[in-house]
Amino acid sequence: MLYIGWQDFIPMMVTVPMKKNFLFAIVISGIALSSSFAQEAQEKKNSPEQIFNDRIMPIFRSEKPSSCIQCHLASVDLKNYILPSHEKTFVSLRDQGLIDLKNPEKSKILHLIAMGYKDADLDAKRIHEKMRAAELAAFTNWIKASCADEKMRKLPALEKSQQAKPAYADEVIRFTRKSRIVDSFTRKIWSQRMRCFPCHTPHQIGPRQKNARKAFEKWQSQFGEQMEIFKKTPEETMQYLIEESRKDQKGNLPLLNLEDPTKSLLVLKPMSKVPPKIDEKRTPTYKVPVYHLGGLKIHKDDHSYKSFVSWIEDYAKTTTGKYTSVKNLPADNWFPTQRILRIKDLPDEWAVGTTVQMFVYAKNNQDNLPVAFTQGTITRRKIANGALILLAPTDPAARQKWRKSRNRLPAGEYQVKVFVDRKKKLEKTPTAFLGPKEFAGQLSIKQAKWRVGFPKAEWISAKMLQPDNKKQLENR
Ligand code: HEC
Ligand code: HEC
Repeated sequence: MLYIGWQDFIPMMVTVPMKKNFLFAIVISGIALSSSFAQEAQEKKNSPEQIFNDRIMPIFRSEKPSSCIQCHLASVDLKNYILPSHEKTFVSLRDQGLIDLKNPEKSKILHLIAMGYKDADLDAKRIHEKMRAAELAAFTNWIKASCADEKMRKLPALEKSQQAKPAYADEVIRFTRKSRIVDSFTRKIWSQRMRCFPCHTPHQIGPRQKNARKAFEKWQSQFGEQMEIFKKTPEETMQYLIEESRKDQKGNLPLLNLEDPTKSLLVLKPMSKVPPKIDEKRTPTYKVPVYHLGGLKIHKDDHSYKSFVSWIEDYAKTTTGKYTSVKNLPADNWFPTQRILRIKDLPDEWAVGTTVQMFVYAKNNQDNLPVAFTQGTITRRKIANGALILLAPTDPAARQKWRKSRNRLPAGEYQVKVFVDRKKKLEKTPTAFLGPKEFAGQLSIKQAKWRVGFPKAEWISAKMLQPDNKKQLENR
């Protein structure tokens, strides 16, 4: 090593006339010296095997999730693509089209790792920066060294079953992405936040809403940070709920209960009464029986309840790896609105408190799929109502078009099918849709306007309900 000094390069450089060929000169001199011991040691250090052992294996063995977690909450990890042998790993990636032999730097596996640089969520991007940079450098070096090695390029293929890849289908991997969960959170929980105004929504209080501001500040001075459940954005809010729920709850219920979503504080608090007065004091509780100083804001089985529980269930299933095949992925196509559908004149044989589900169908609806639904419980006045939740098409292309459409529920003629949960099926599965057994009848609305808010609700009467002859309800 010692005798390979600067001066050894000089003769070579002199023979190469142009300055820009400097690198070329070093390469040539490298070849000229390749018989030296030093060069051999250097080569070994840069061999695919050595790079793999030094830099890829630690990723494989690490218990920490790889940088993919920045966007993929489950179903995929960089480790899924690594085998304990450098040759097998190379062949496995090569034969899955994840390595580009001609342009190693353009290999798809590098593209997947570099995805994190494109994240619009700057916080997430920063948190995973170091890990991602290390993975990218390790894989780039190793792939370049391997591709430069003729022996490696020509290795025989592995059997398909021996290739290293994620255990789940691409659809499952896409479904368990954080951005899908955030989108779902925005629709199912964030959209309902005004029901918690102003006590938990400081960012929704306008500059002129002085009383609302005062009310919020009064609670905040008493209960501090826990009052600010809804942050500035859906992402921050979701993150807050997730992080708070991971902490040691010291015997209390978590905000999000992943083992039993209906027992989440986020759901139970707004469904609870104010605590009883004891010695002039009201003391809220954080375990069963729950008392909420804000009082009753959400009724069991109303549209918000359904939507909250449905999101928590979905999040729990995502993070605990319950989504294993395309078959068990839910549609996740609910888009809450503030258009109210009310049904009156409910017959006496349907008890007060029973849940009623109403499905809205477009008039010329060929595939017999509802465009919206809602649910509510029967009141003493024999009324039930709820805000409509639109049901987007499930086909990805159709849904994208639908999301862009300006009027997703145009005025006009619609059919409504009504279902009554007399057997209390929703008690066990609060997010379910009732089926043919609970069908109570259908009617048509000749001129539905679907305007926003309770005063402009669309009214229907149970007296007009007709039995459905076709009974084609299974499609839902
Ligand atoms: C910045 C976010 C982000 C990061 C980080 C990220 N991905 Fe993805 N990934 C996506 C998106 C978005 C899709 C869905 C693309 C689509 O729907 O067409 C996706 C889809 C996939 C798919 C499904 C196949 C496909 O092309 O749709 C696989 C496999 C995948 N990613 C693997 C990885 C691996 C492995 C890592 C870590 C090395 C990673 N991803 C890191 C955003 C990311
Ligand atoms: C009129 C004010 C008010 C409204 C409206 C209100 N709350 Fe509350 N909430 C409170 C107060 C005060 C507390 C703190 C005392 C307590 O725990 O009961 C609280 C506490 C909570 C907690 C416990 C937070 C924690 O970190 O421990 C949750 C969860 C909660 N509310 C959910 C809701 C939801 C969801 C809504 C809307 C659907 C809502 N509340 C509407 C006043 C309100």
